[in-house]
Amino acid sequence: MKRCAIFSVSCLQTILHNQCLSFASNCLPFFSYRSCLYHGLSSSSTNIRPFPDYSPKKPTIRDAEFVHHISTTIKLRRSESLRRILKSYESKFRPDHLIWIFMSIKNDYKLVLDFFDWACLRREPSLEARCIVVQIATASKDLKMVHGLIREFWEKPNLDVSLSFTNFAEKLIYTYKDWGSDPHVFDIFFQVLVETGMLNEARNFFDKLLTYGLVLSVDSCNLFLSHLSRNFDGFEMAIKVFNEYPEVGICWNTTSYNIIINSICQLGKIKEAHHLLLKMEFRGSIPDVVTYSTIISKYCHVGELQKALRLIGEMEAKGLKANPYICNSIILFLCKNGKLFEAEKVLREMMMQGVVPDNVVYTTLIDGYCKLSNVPAAYLLFDEMRVRKIIPDFVTYTAIIHGFCKAGKMTEADNIFHEMVSRGLQPDEVTYTTLIDGYCKTGEVKKAFSLHNQMARKGLVPNVVTYTALADGLCKQGEVDIAIELLQEIHSNGLQLNVCTYNSIVNGLCKSGNIVQAQKLKEKMEEVAGMHPDSFTYTTLMDAYCKIREMDKAYMLLQEMWDRGYKPTVVTFNVLMNGFCLSGMLEDGERLLEWMLEKGIMPNTTTYNSLMKLYCIRNNMRATTEIYRGMCAQGLMPDNNTYNILIKGHCKARDMKTAGFLHKEMVAKGFLLTASSYNALIKGFHKRKKFVEARELFEEMRRQGLIADREIYNLFVDMIYKEGNMEVTLDLCDEVIENCLVRSKNEDM
Ligand SMILES: *[C@@H]1O[C@H](CO)[C@@H](O)[C@H](O)[C@H]1NC(C)=O
Ligand SMILES: *[C@@H]1O[C@H](CO)[C@@H](O)[C@H](O)[C@H]1NC(C)=O
Ligand SMILES: *[C@@H]1O[C@H](CO)[C@@H](O)[C@H](O)[C@H]1NC(C)=O
Repeated sequence: MKRCAIFSVSCLQTILHNQCLSFASNCLPFFSYRSCLYHGLSSSSTNIRPFPDYSPKKPTIRDAEFVHHISTTIKLRRSESLRRILKSYESKFRPDHLIWIFMSIKNDYKLVLDFFDWACLRREPSLEARCIVVQIATASKDLKMVHGLIREFWEKPNLDVSLSFTNFAEKLIYTYKDWGSDPHVFDIFFQVLVETGMLNEARNFFDKLLTYGLVLSVDSCNLFLSHLSRNFDGFEMAIKVFNEYPEVGICWNTTSYNIIINSICQLGKIKEAHHLLLKMEFRGSIPDVVTYSTIISKYCHVGELQKALRLIGEMEAKGLKANPYICNSIILFLCKNGKLFEAEKVLREMMMQGVVPDNVVYTTLIDGYCKLSNVPAAYLLFDEMRVRKIIPDFVTYTAIIHGFCKAGKMTEADNIFHEMVSRGLQPDEVTYTTLIDGYCKTGEVKKAFSLHNQMARKGLVPNVVTYTALADGLCKQGEVDIAIELLQEIHSNGLQLNVCTYNSIVNGLCKSGNIVQAQKLKEKMEEVAGMHPDSFTYTTLMDAYCKIREMDKAYMLLQEMWDRGYKPTVVTFNVLMNGFCLSGMLEDGERLLEWMLEKGIMPNTTTYNSLMKLYCIRNNMRATTEIYRGMCAQGLMPDNNTYNILIKGHCKARDMKTAGFLHKEMVAKGFLLTASSYNALIKGFHKRKKFVEARELFEEMRRQGLIADREIYNLFVDMIYKEGNMEVTLDLCDEVIENCLVRSKNEDM
């Protein structure tokens, strides 16, 4: 039939819904007079209007005769087409005739349809005629047709929606009583309104039907709720409808609750959503897996894992099994918090309980492991996916490629990349850039460039990150000139290079010890591409010089920076200060501090710590104390490093009184001592024959899980053995064996 082409998925859904209508009638009569349900209104039953009678215009005698001829002809036809047998009537046929003919053939549904089709080919039928066919089709239970006939009307171009709605609704009500009297017709009309986005009209129609004492089905209302809550603006309206409709007799079921609970969650009101879950059972709707999983995943999303787990418990106690959606929410939560092992444990447990994870769950875990640089674990999962025939998608491939690239395993990354392409998945700029970066980092710059060309051939545009990776790769190979050329070319091609590109390359070069190249890059970039270093560039270079003890070069950079008007920050100064101290250049350190204070750059505790550490090494506790006082005078508070430095310094200078005092103060402030501070204190007290203090510290240290020097263990093993406490002695010996075998390095001062 011609109209079948109109049927869409949503139409089929409607039909499915309608097959379930009998279910709803267990809950309430499908259509109920408001008066029966709602006693408050039943007394005022005058409010309820009857459906109108159908009263068409009477035909003239000539028309009646004409109609009679056509009706007889079409009723008597066998297999001939209407077109042929009606050929002689065609010229005299008027739209008016259509309805009179319907009156005479209304009991033959197929004929009505055929005749309607015939008439439609000639001229657009009146809305009334369409409504009549709709009513007859409903009475004949051809709901698919009904849906199509209504939808067809709304799909006409240039329709004045609001006027058409009023007309259509009126005509439908007008033709209802005499042509069909099947209330499904209103449901389908309503559903089409909803599906075509006429939500206000749908709401008006619902109200209009109430005045006739009709209530639409839950099914229709659920469709309405779900369309309302498709976008954020509709949530409030959906909730309003949800709260109001029961007053007129709608009996919501689990599906309705699920829609609303989802909306409430989307509005971020998870407590209310949870509350509604508890309430729905009282009202006779059993929450299902969808209900639970909506709330559970929201709890995971906002970080309330405990509540999510409790709900899972409740749900399982009811015999409901967690679904992959829940599984994924929990796993996602754990992955986001870096708890990959726990996340995988959840996956295993859920699998044991028969939940089949989907590719999203696996991808979440794979991505999580890759981000933690645990590529072997990621790959195991990736492999497991293949064994279980779960198809990895674009995201999965990108994650694992990224993981391998980060780990420098370019052969594996390349294999996966090819597998991805052979599966018909198209790599994008990010995939290519990841690989290019990987190859550059492993020094395979040629490979990187060939990927770059491949990328360009595919019409993908390399971005700043891609070029940064390439330039970085070139620099690492010592090809700073070519890198500069490349950057210059990109620059002149209009791609905005930023100082981050620059800094990341300088940083990379410095880290790999290519400070000469880094310095060269800095100079050339200014010359060639007009790019200026910033204070981060300078600080990176200075740090590199400090590390190789080239303090004069570092200091020159500070001068240059200053001269060019870049204000060094405390970070820059701390880098230099640390450098001076590492090189034992105490006087320069002192001068730097003065300079800082002079220029109004506030040092911080780290700055002072560097100086104090150096004075302590030089056994100059007087100067140390002076600096400490200076620091406090600046309003800076000592931190854990300060205390550890001072304690070790005073112990070395055998000032156990001050060291002991600092220990107490530090503990009171909640700072922790390092093992080397404990060692220094214990040895100091022991030398002073303050055995009780030494022993207390030794116990405290062990409680902290710190390992003492072997020398200290020996002292205490002797001491306790002499006291005759065999058991403790043996315990200590065990500890010595365990720790001194395990321990490989000691803390340095
Ligand atoms: C709710 O009712 C509608 C219509 O009666 C039905 O299609 C749907 O399956 C019901 N939902 C549940 C969860 O029972
Ligand atoms: C001092 O500055 C350094 C940067 O050089 C920073 O890492 C550190 O956290 C700062 N210390 C304090 C106590 O603010
Ligand atoms: C000082 O405490 C910070 C954290 O507060 C810690 O990262 C650092 O390792 C501690 N330093 C020492 C020397 O204990």
